[in-house]
Amino acid sequence: MSAASFPEGFVWGVSTSAFQIEGATTADGRGPSIWDGFSADRAEACDHYHRHTEDVRLMKDLGIAAYRFSVSWARVIPDGCGKVNTAGLGFYDRLLDELLAAGITPYATLYHWDLPQALEDQGGWPVRDTARHFADYAAAVHERLGDRVDTWFTVNEPWVAAFLGYGSGIHAPGRTSAADAFRSAHHMLLAHGLGVQALRAAGAAKVSAVVNISPVLTPAQVSDFGRELSEEDAEAVARIDALANRQFLDPMLRGAYPADLIPLIERHAGLGHVRDGDLDVIAQPIDLIGVNYYAPLVVQAQPSEPADPAFPGSEGVLFCTVPTAVTAMGWPIVPGCLSQLLGRLSREYPETDLMITENGADFVDVVTGDGIHDVERISFIEEHLRALRSAIENGARARGYFVWTLLDNLEWADGYQRKFGLVHVDFATQKRRMKDSARWYRDVVARNGLSETRARRPTLETVAARAHVSRATVSRVVNGETSVSPEVRATVMRAVRELGYVPNAAARSLVTRRTNTVALVLSVPRQGGDPLTAAVVQYVTSMLEGAGKQITLMLADTAESHRRIASHVEARLADGVVLLPPDRADTLAERLSRTGVPIVLLGKPAVASLVPYVDVDNAGGAAAATEHLIARGRRHIGMICGPMDLVSVQDRLAGHRAALHRAGMRPLLAPADDLTRASGAAAARRLIGDNPSLDAIFVAGDQLAIGALRAAQEAGRRVPDDLAIAGFDDIDAASATTPQLTTVRVPVADQALALARLLLSRLEGRHVTSVVLPARLVVRDST
Ligand code: FCB
Repeated sequence: MSAASFPEGFVWGVSTSAFQIEGATTADGRGPSIWDGFSADRAEACDHYHRHTEDVRLMKDLGIAAYRFSVSWARVIPDGCGKVNTAGLGFYDRLLDELLAAGITPYATLYHWDLPQALEDQGGWPVRDTARHFADYAAAVHERLGDRVDTWFTVNEPWVAAFLGYGSGIHAPGRTSAADAFRSAHHMLLAHGLGVQALRAAGAAKVSAVVNISPVLTPAQVSDFGRELSEEDAEAVARIDALANRQFLDPMLRGAYPADLIPLIERHAGLGHVRDGDLDVIAQPIDLIGVNYYAPLVVQAQPSEPADPAFPGSEGVLFCTVPTAVTAMGWPIVPGCLSQLLGRLSREYPETDLMITENGADFVDVVTGDGIHDVERISFIEEHLRALRSAIENGARARGYFVWTLLDNLEWADGYQRKFGLVHVDFATQKRRMKDSARWYRDVVARNGLSETRARRPTLETVAARAHVSRATVSRVVNGETSVSPEVRATVMRAVRELGYVPNAAARSLVTRRTNTVALVLSVPRQGGDPLTAAVVQYVTSMLEGAGKQITLMLADTAESHRRIASHVEARLADGVVLLPPDRADTLAERLSRTGVPIVLLGKPAVASLVPYVDVDNAGGAAAATEHLIARGRRHIGMICGPMDLVSVQDRLAGHRAALHRAGMRPLLAPADDLTRASGAAAARRLIGDNPSLDAIFVAGDQLAIGALRAAQEAGRRVPDDLAIAGFDDIDAASATTPQLTTVRVPVADQALALARLLLSRLEGRHVTSVVLPARLVVRDST
C-alpha cells in the first residue's frame, strides 16, 4: 500500500437515512413516525422517494462501491406491528434494483430513529414490546429484500435515539426522563439482539449495528492525547465514556454492561427492565461494527456541576467547549480522535471488523455562478481519511468508509439549515448540484486513496498564465460576468478544468469587490469583565474562518480608533463587522450601521437599534438566581450591581427586582464601579454594614461575587449558613472558591455560534432578527 492508498477491497460509500431524505410521508400507505412533525421544518426532505433514480445516478457518477440507506419502519408496517404494507416495501424493492444495476452494493439500516408513531403511543422505546416488534419488522423487511442486501445494520446510534429522544428531549419524541432514557437504551440493545436473531434465522449474510463513538477527552488532551489525568478527571472521563460508548459496545460485544455503569442505571431506572437472558440475546455474534465518528466529547471534573440531561449520572462533570476549529454545528474538528478510537476498538474488541459508517461535516456553503467550492468540507474529509489511513497502518481492522452524506437534507431538529451533503439540494426546486467535495471524493474513490501529497492548489495566476489572459479576466469568467467574449471564456474555463482550479476569495473579490474579510471590533474589555469576551472572540474567529472569512481584529479604545474603524468600514475594506461587546461602543455601532455594511453585535445595545444582536437572557438568569435564594428561605436579599452603563447589568438588575417584587420583597442595592473582586468586596462590606439582617446577596458578576464572598467571610459571616451568595457568568474561578459559587451560566460557545451565523446570514443578504439565548442557574454550595 503506497503512502496514501487504502487496502485493496476497501469499501468506499456514502450514507443517508430514510426520514432525512425520503419525504413522501403519506405516500402509498406509510404511517406517521415520531419525527414527522417534530422538526419545525416540513418533512418533504429531498423527495428522494420520487427522485431515487436521479439519486442513484449521482451515486454511480461518484463511483462509490456501497450505499448505506435506512428503511422506514412506518412505511413497511404503518402501525409499527401487525400488517405489512407491501406498497411501502415496493419502494425499497425498486431502489435496490437500481443500485444493483448501477453496480452499487446496498447496506441497509433498519432503525435510523424514525419510530412509528403508533408504537410511541403505546409507550415507545421505554416499553419492552417495542424490541419484539422490531424483530418482526426486521424479518418482514428481510423477507422481501433479503436476496439483495449485503449487510444489515439493526439500529443506528442508539445513544442518540435513547438519550436525546427520551432524556434531554431535543430529539423526537421529546420526552425528558432519565429512567425512560436508560430503559430505551436497553430495549434498543435488545431490539438489536432479537433483530440479529431474526435476520440470521432468515439467512442474512452479514449483520451488524451502528454506534456513534465519541472519544472522551479533557481539554488538555485535545492537543495532547497522551496527557496524564488527575484522578478526578480520569473518573469524569471514564463515567462519560461508560454512558456514551461502553453502554452499547460492551453488551453487544461482551455480553455485559460495564461494571461502572450499572450503579448509574440502577439509580435512575432500577434494573427491573434488564431481564435474565437479555444480555445473551444482545451479544449475538455480529460480523462487524459500524462506527459513526464526528467529534470528541470534552469533559473535566467540576464538583457540584449538575447532570446534563443527555447524560443522566453526569453530576460533577463539566462538558467543555474548546477553542479548536469547529464545523458550522460548532463541533470541534479533531481528526486524530478517529485514529485513536479505531486503535482502541481494535485493541479492546479484537475480534470485530470495523467500518466507518458515518463521518462528514456541516459547513456554510456558498453557491456561486461556477459551483459550490466547499474547500472546508474537502479538507475535513481529507484529514479524517489520513487519520483513518494511519489507524489501518497500525493494525486497525477498518474495512470501509462512508461519507455522511450524499445530499443536503433534513438534519433532524435542526431542519434544512445544516449542510452535510456532497451534493447541494435547492429545497425550493429539488435541484441537485455536485459540490467540489463530491468531485474530489469521486477522485479518492477512483484512486482508492488520497493523492500522495496534499494538492497544492493552482492559483489565479497559474490559470491566467495557462490561458494567456490577465488575472482580472480569469476573475470575471469565474464570477460569471457576461462582458467576456465566448472564445476567451472557453479558453479560461478549459484552463480552469485542466488545472483543477478552485476559485478562491481573491478571485471572487477582484470583481465583486467583496473582500471576504470580516472586521472583529473589540471595545476595550473592562477590568474584571473580560474572560467571556476573550472566549467569544476565540470562537467567533474560528467559526468565521471555518466559513472561509479572513478576520481583521480592531480595537475600539479611543475616539481616534473609532474614526479609524469607521473609515475602514466606509472604504469597504470589510464585508461585515462583528462588534463586541457594544456597551461603550454604542455610538460606534450606530455609526457603522449607517455605512450599509452588515454589522452584528454581541449584547443588546443601550439604545434601541436596528442592528441585530446576540444576547443572553440576563433578566431571566437574574430572576432564576433570586427565586432560588427565596426558595432557600432567604428573606433579606441584597444585590451588588456592576457599572450601570452596562446594559447586561441593567437587565440583571431588572430581573432581580422583578423576582423580588413577585415575592413581595424590597431590593437592597449596592452599586460597584467596575467588575473586579475589590469592588465586590467593598460593596459587600457596605451591604453587610447597612443591613444587619442581610441573609443573601445576588451579585451581577462572578468576579464581584468572589470578592463579596471573601469580604463576607472576613466579616465573620458563614457562607451559606449566615449569608448565601450567588453570582453570574459561571467563569472558571466560580467553581474554585470555598464554598463553590452558585452562579448563572452564560452559554459562551452558543453565543459565538449565533453571532457567526447571524453575520453570515446578513452577508448573504437575508433578513435576520436578534437572538436571545437562555441562561441557566448552576446551584453550588454557596447557597
Ligand atoms: C448522526 C446521524 C445522522 C446525521 C449526522 C449528522 O448522528 O446518524 O443521521 O444526523 O449525525
